[in-house]
Amino acid sequence: MRVMVGRTAVDVADGATVLEAVRASGVDLPSLCHDDRLSPRGSCRTCLVRAASRIVASCTTPAAEGMHVELDDPAAQQAAKAAVELMVSELPARALEIPAERSELVRACTYFGITAGSFAGAGHDRGTDHSHPYVKLDRDLCIACGRCVAMCAEVQGTFALELTGRGFDTVVAAGDGGPWVSSPCVGCGGCVDSCPTGALSEPGLLDLTPITTTTTTTCGYCGVGCTLDVH
Ligand code: FES
Repeated sequence: MRVMVGRTAVDVADGATVLEAVRASGVDLPSLCHDDRLSPRGSCRTCLVRAASRIVASCTTPAAEGMHVELDDPAAQQAAKAAVELMVSELPARALEIPAERSELVRACTYFGITAGSFAGAGHDRGTDHSHPYVKLDRDLCIACGRCVAMCAEVQGTFALELTGRGFDTVVAAGDGGPWVSSPCVGCGGCVDSCPTGALSEPGLLDLTPITTTTTTTCGYCGVGCTLDVH
């Protein structure tokens, strides 16, 4: 079916959402609770547009033949921008210092022209959990979008994660809320891959425990059989 996104006509498959039509037009519309691999959640309101004369969450709204989608509608833009500003107001300044290629939130702020400090939020001091060898959690960067929880349940089928707390205190937790390493998390990395803010990340080389053992083995690159030490 054909959809007009601004002045751009795009063809999308039956059943496509408005967000998919927008993406097909080449616009990287912020969509902080959405991941193409997961069921649409429609909870963050950062993907608001005007479509068929109504302001809608584009991630949960089906596109329709001949639909007109306006990305520059002032009311939709203002509401979506305010949703991002409210999120940012609760986060530490370092949330916006993460490189854009690693943070959808940073890219969303660039899209809407948001800089740190638009609102003065309560902030948090919820600490970190670095107990797991493959997953690091920085609770203060969590926007409770739920993508990690859905990734763990819908894709991995592990059901190790949940959102705990209420309102601005909502945050992801693993298992019964104890150390991440004690939870059923299998370390697949799906939650890290889906996290839009960097609240979940993989330990870097500097985080790893120094390796102190040396193993002598045979190089498998060719048939000569050279030995080498692996540290
Ligand atoms: Fe559409 Fe969150 S991405 S409401």
